[in-house]
Amino acid sequence: MAGAAEHPNPGTRTLEGVTLVNRRSFLKVAGTATTQALLASGLHAGIDPAAPGTLLAPQQSEPASSVAANDHIQIALIGAGGQGQYDTHVASTVPGVKVVAAADCYDNRLAHCRELWGQDILTTRDYREILDRKDIDAVIIGTPDHWHKQASIDAMNAGKDVYCEKPMIHLYSDGPAMIETSRTAKRILQIGSQRVSNIVYAKAKELLASGAIGQLNMISAFWDRNSSIGAWNYTVPPDASPETCDWPRFLGTAPKIPFNAEHFFQWRKWKAYGSGVAGDLFVHLFSGVHYITGAHGPTRAMATGGLRFWKDGRDVPDVLLGLFDYPQGFNLALRVNFVDGGSEGEGFLFTGSEGTLEIAGNSLIVNRVPRETEPGLMIGSFTDAMQKQITETYRQKYPIVEATAPTRVGFDKYVVPRDYSDSYDHLKNFFASVRSRQPVVEDAVFGYRAAGAALLSNLSYERDAIVHWDPEAMKLG
Ligand SMILES: NC(=O)c1ccc[n+]([C@@H]2O[C@H](COP(=O)([O-])OP(=O)(O)OC[C@H]3O[C@@H](n4cnc5c(N)ncnc54)[C@H](O)[C@@H]3O)[C@@H](O)[C@H]2O)c1
Repeated sequence: MAGAAEHPNPGTRTLEGVTLVNRRSFLKVAGTATTQALLASGLHAGIDPAAPGTLLAPQQSEPASSVAANDHIQIALIGAGGQGQYDTHVASTVPGVKVVAAADCYDNRLAHCRELWGQDILTTRDYREILDRKDIDAVIIGTPDHWHKQASIDAMNAGKDVYCEKPMIHLYSDGPAMIETSRTAKRILQIGSQRVSNIVYAKAKELLASGAIGQLNMISAFWDRNSSIGAWNYTVPPDASPETCDWPRFLGTAPKIPFNAEHFFQWRKWKAYGSGVAGDLFVHLFSGVHYITGAHGPTRAMATGGLRFWKDGRDVPDVLLGLFDYPQGFNLALRVNFVDGGSEGEGFLFTGSEGTLEIAGNSLIVNRVPRETEPGLMIGSFTDAMQKQITETYRQKYPIVEATAPTRVGFDKYVVPRDYSDSYDHLKNFFASVRSRQPVVEDAVFGYRAAGAALLSNLSYERDAIVHWDPEAMKLG
């Protein structure tokens, strides 16, 4: 793992826990690898990605106003691994936020938290010690998926607002329980698919609603990788043991097995703790689709795939393809391939009746092709007399109109400012709600609808069947 991952700093961002790269190299990735992946995937709309674009206004990422010293939000981290430390670092850069405690099951990560946020912060293996502290207002939960529900519910019942990493759920039963607790305990619960706060996604939402690409009929999205770290083979430290790792606490509700360092540090590879590529990556794509379209979820899903390359004892596929029907009248096709034979990347292509809208990394490209104004004729195989007759009738209905202006075939590109961070915006939005008590966009209902839709892929794959979901009632069919 890149060194930056262990030392998050303001210029870094996470590509789903794979590595942290600085802004400059990320832009390079976005401009080359992502585009290559789009081209390879057949998604790219034929636009030159190097063309200059309109700079999107960083409204949401303007610095928050300064906060009086006695008005700080005190936060704690539960699950201090790669993403938890990154989120907490970003949170600490939002004015008025102070890190005061961290809980984790591996001693060395607690030691690193003290290096990052001060030797005087509370560090513990047992997050209940954190929840007992009355001076802690909010927690960030960066545990593996199988702890999201319990840690969130315990924190909300202890009066804390919660920023819980995606996917919100590990099991379908987690969703209603988390929604209910957020309501009864009157706590803010925001889920951590940071792209929901991204200005590129906000622009895509605005353009789609304004009819920029006509009537939406299909969305394709993918997330491809081609590396060992990308396939979740995270580093196991040399001191990993039952002494340094709180194995029973890590296991929680998972099946009881003897200490296994790979399960502890590479938990995504096993269903007992993670949710496969669907929970890890499809969920981000669903969050994006639901935010941009305003849809609540698919009604029908089917998935296929397999364990094609990383046959290292994991019990989840490394290639997964999912197809989803939305009641709004569009289809969604998703793909994750951990052995894509080339560059790594992610992207979306929204296809409408009058154009396409493409999100590639942190840029947005709109390609407008207005529909034809007349249907045309297909008459070459008929007799000359018949062709003449049809043409005369056709021209009465569709007279030749001299174009007064060129057809408006449009191409627009939007890019974000150099140091833009959607993680910062997402956390800033969370803390704004913690102060105002106003709802967050990615609340428990949004989070359940995104994760519930994503996990349909696992169900379909495991059952070898089409599965049904009611996105309004949030229930399996
Ligand atoms: N939003 C994003 O872009 C993004 C990126 C990466 C990861 N994530 C999500 O963040 C979460 C963590 O992923 P990661 O890569 O940081 O994993 P990680 O393995 O690096 O960290 C998880 C940590 O949780 C700790 N833990 C486990 N059980 C615990 C418990 N009961 N109490 C306290 N700590 C406990 C482990 O000891 C470990 O240090 C996952 O849900 C993942 O899906 C989100």
